[in-house]
Formats: sequence, structure tokens, C-alpha cells
Amino acid sequence: MKASRRFPVVLGLCSFTHDSAAALVAGGHLAGMAEEERLTGVKHTREYPGRSGAWLLSEAGLTAGDVDVVAYNFAGHRYLGGVVGSAGYLLASATLGRAVPRAASFAVVHARYRQRMRALRQMFPNATVRGVGHHRAHGVYAFTVSGYEQAAVLIADSLGETCTTSIGHAHADGQATRYRIIEAIDDPASLGYAYGAVTAHLGWRRGDEEGTVMALAALGDPARFREVLSRAIQVTGTGFALDPGLFPLRVLRHGWTRVTPAFIDATCPPRQPGEEIGQVHADLAAALQERTEQVMVHLAYRAREVTGSRLLCAGGGVALNCVAIGKILEEGLFDEVFVPPAPGDSGTSIGAAIAAHLKTAGVIPSGVTHACYLGPAYPGFDPGPAPLPGLTARRVVDPARFLASQLAAGKIAGLFQGRLEAGPRALGSRSILASPLLPDVNERLNARVKFRETFRPFAPVVLGGKAARYFQLTQPSPYMSIAVPVTALARRLIPAVVHVNGTARVSPRAWLSSDTLGRIKREERSRPIQRENTATCPYIGGLAGTPRDAATPVTRPGAGAIYECPVSTGQMSSLPNLAIP
Ligand SMILES: [Fe+2]
Repeated sequence: MKASRRFPVVLGLCSFTHDSAAALVAGGHLAGMAEEERLTGVKHTREYPGRSGAWLLSEAGLTAGDVDVVAYNFAGHRYLGGVVGSAGYLLASATLGRAVPRAASFAVVHARYRQRMRALRQMFPNATVRGVGHHRAHGVYAFTVSGYEQAAVLIADSLGETCTTSIGHAHADGQATRYRIIEAIDDPASLGYAYGAVTAHLGWRRGDEEGTVMALAALGDPARFREVLSRAIQVTGTGFALDPGLFPLRVLRHGWTRVTPAFIDATCPPRQPGEEIGQVHADLAAALQERTEQVMVHLAYRAREVTGSRLLCAGGGVALNCVAIGKILEEGLFDEVFVPPAPGDSGTSIGAAIAAHLKTAGVIPSGVTHACYLGPAYPGFDPGPAPLPGLTARRVVDPARFLASQLAAGKIAGLFQGRLEAGPRALGSRSILASPLLPDVNERLNARVKFRETFRPFAPVVLGGKAARYFQLTQPSPYMSIAVPVTALARRLIPAVVHVNGTARVSPRAWLSSDTLGRIKREERSRPIQRENTATCPYIGGLAGTPRDAATPVTRPGAGAIYECPVSTGQMSSLPNLAIP
């Protein structure tokens, strides 16, 4: 069944690399998107997004045979550029030893790409399988979700075919969009590669735990390794470059180190996972973060210069660095900086689908602007009377009041409602909440629910109209993309939401209704933990995408409640069908 004669059915895919996801455009509308890890529990999975794709097609009443275009988030023929380009590295002693393995690795990735495209053609026999340039997919997604009429677009990630950084300009052209990449920086100059290399050197998982390094940076002194990082990541007139003597030339295979012995000599020995975190590790994280911010600001200046735009859309995995985005905002270069909810590779499933739809139908699908809640909902979920060992389920009449009372009583609450959000940030559909007024709330959340380092901050959510009292936020930030300084009032009243460096990654989005936040505040006032003029800023953190998986954290000591609400409102004002105290 074709959704429409006029519009093609387009399945966008991020697959076979990391952060697998699928997005569907049908009938000229963005029908949905889901990240595979939220449905399977396998974080950053590289597998084909089978569950996401099956859910999307099923929801739309389609089958694989109905798909007209499969839009893959890499234009794989460009990997051959990495083969050819490697010849130049034979000429320098620092890169000579890796030039041939690098060329061979790009050739292997290209061959794998061709195999995968053949497999996709078999899975979708009536579809054209189209590779979309990786940075184009990132950029089209970031711009079209922003709703801007025109903007500069800065994409920074680890690697897209051979490109790592791009600056472009986009503008809406009627129902279409024109997006032109003006400048591109190729590998080996890669902020994502450098940040990942140091993340692994510091004992955390590359491609996963960069946020831990960003948080740790606030505890360190960048001065100690400032000179080393300035040499390692050099700013050039139009971009930046990596010193191969410190960050060795990339080879696209496991087992090739990403820092050199010279880097280790100049910094510290590799930290093993679980090893005690010392000041030296925090200092290295601080220097890396500082240099990343400097380079991102430099790139933002360049984007301003070559586009002339006063609006910036940022994407790619490096755009998840909310502190760097905050620094760009602080510069005052742009009137607004927009980061979409899924700036990492999962979002390229949407970008690839939009780009392919634009190419085929000549228009951008509807339903893209500010699209975030795009995944499955479970309105009919029935947990039964005892959903998990130790839990009992019951219906509550007034979920907002119940949530408010639980938070005010010091409980940690799991909030599960509506459609799964896109991207890595918990934006109210699958979130963990707690009151910031609890004196030990950070430790409880990190130790009992999130199982992570005590220095990791939590993000506050606040009523939009009250945000300015507590946070120096000068523009909308609906997707927790920007770390901004807090006010003196916030430091005094709610220090639990203030990171060591005096910032918070605030979410002033009204996904918790005003009614709910108001009730929480009233409940807090009636409790012993009340403080004068307190803000209501429940913490938020991620939950799994399915009801059963989401219930797991609340079975742990110190956790509290979980809810499922109908999808229609997206807020807590509707009747829930699950509440587990
Ligand atoms: Fe990417």
C-alpha cells in the first residue's frame, strides 16, 4: 500500500556504524523516528535498526515492499577519497607508518558499504537505495527542525565518509530547502576523534562517555595541559588541524591507538576503567574541554563570516557538548543557536529521509519543525497488578498530584508518558525526576539509580516564565542543548542543580505542565524540606524506551514512581494507567 501517489515512502536509516535509528516519511509527513538502543537496550548499537524500522512501517500500515526510497546516512562512494588521499601521508615521518593501513581501511569500509547497500536492496525490493552525504544528513536535519527561514549550519563530528567538519548555509525556499556546504574540513582534522581519543585515554568509553569527560573538566585546571592541547589541536585560519605526533593518523579499524607515546609522555599514563580518578585526569579533561570550546567558537566565527547569518544551527556529535554550545552563545555572534534533539548520528536517519524526500518529491515533509517526540507510545500498556518483583501497580486519579506528593516526599520518580523522545536527552517522555531541595539527591541519584560518577550533574527543568530567575539563558533551549551560567539566586536556593563550574543545562520546556510544576511547588511548601522562595526544578535523566525496561530503575532502593499517560497531551494532565509507588 503506497501512502500517497504524490509522495514517496522514504525510510531513513542510521545503521551499521553506531547509534542505529530509523525514520519514516510517508504521505509527505514525518511519521516517526526511533533509536534502536531505546527499544533493544543495547546502547549505541551498530545493528540494523530492525525493531525501529518494523515499528515505523507497522504504525503506518506499510510493509517493506511499500518503501520507495531507503535513505542511508552515508554516501559511501566517498570513502574512496580516503584511499586516494592517504598517499600524501607517505611523505611525512609522523604519518608514514599509518598511510598504507589507513588507505586499506577506507577501501574495506567502502567494500562493506557496497555489501550493505546490496543487502538493503534485498530487504526493500521495490526501493531505490540512496546514500546521502553524512554531513548533508546532519545539516538538513538540524536546519529543518529549527524552523528558521535561513541559518548558518555548523556540523562537527568524528567522521562522515572523509569529512569531519562542515560549514554551510541553508534557507527555506517555499516548501523546499536549499542547503549548501560552503567549507568542509576532512579527516584527520577531527574534533570528535580527538575528544574520543582522550576520553578513552582517561578510561571511559569512546563514543559513549564523552559527557563524563565534559563534566569532569569542571573539576580540573586547564592550565596544566593547555600548551599540550594547543599543540595537539591547532587552530588554522579557516579551521583546525591535529598534530599527528600527538593524535596519530586515523585507521578505520579496531586496535589502532588514538594517542601517541608522545601524548602519554606529555600528559599522564592511560587510566584504566574503574581506576581512581585523580587531579591529573581532571586537569587533562579541563584542557581538552577548553581547547574544544576554543575551536568550536573559532568555527562559529568562521560560519558567521562565510554565511553572514545571525542564526546558527549546530549538529554532529560534538554539538552534544553543551558547554561548547554555551560558549558560542556567550560570544554574541548569533542571535540564536539551535541544536536539534538528536544532533548525533541517530538524527541523520531523519536528515537522510528528509534529504531524499526533498530530492524525490521536491518538498520538505510536514511535521519536521521542532519534531522531538517521534517514537513509540504505549497507551494500552497494562502492567498487571504486580509488574515486577517487589512492585505493585495501581491507578491514580490525579497523576500530577501524585507525582508532586512523591517528589515532595523525597522520592525519585520515573516519568513515562507519550511518545519516546528523539536523541540522548531525557525530555519528559522517559525521565527520572527528583526534587533539588533534597540535600543528598545527587548522591542518591548517581549511586542508586544512574550508577555513575558522583561529579556528573543533573539537568534542571523549570517553568519557562521562571527560567530567567535562576539561569542566564537568553534564548530558547527546548532540548537541553546549552549549558549556561546560573544566577546568584540559583546558587543560593538550589545548589544541587548547579555544576561545579557554575552552569546548568536547563530545560525550560513545558513538558511538565504548569499545573504539575505548580502542584509540586505547593506540595514542597507543605513539607519540612520547604525553603523560602524555592524553585521547582526536578532533575531529569534518561529511562529506557519501553514500559518494562523503564520500570527497572524504580525497583532500586530510593526510587519511587512510574507513570504511563496517553500520548495525546504529552503532559501530566491526563489519566494515567500506571503508577507504582
Ligand atoms: Fe556524524
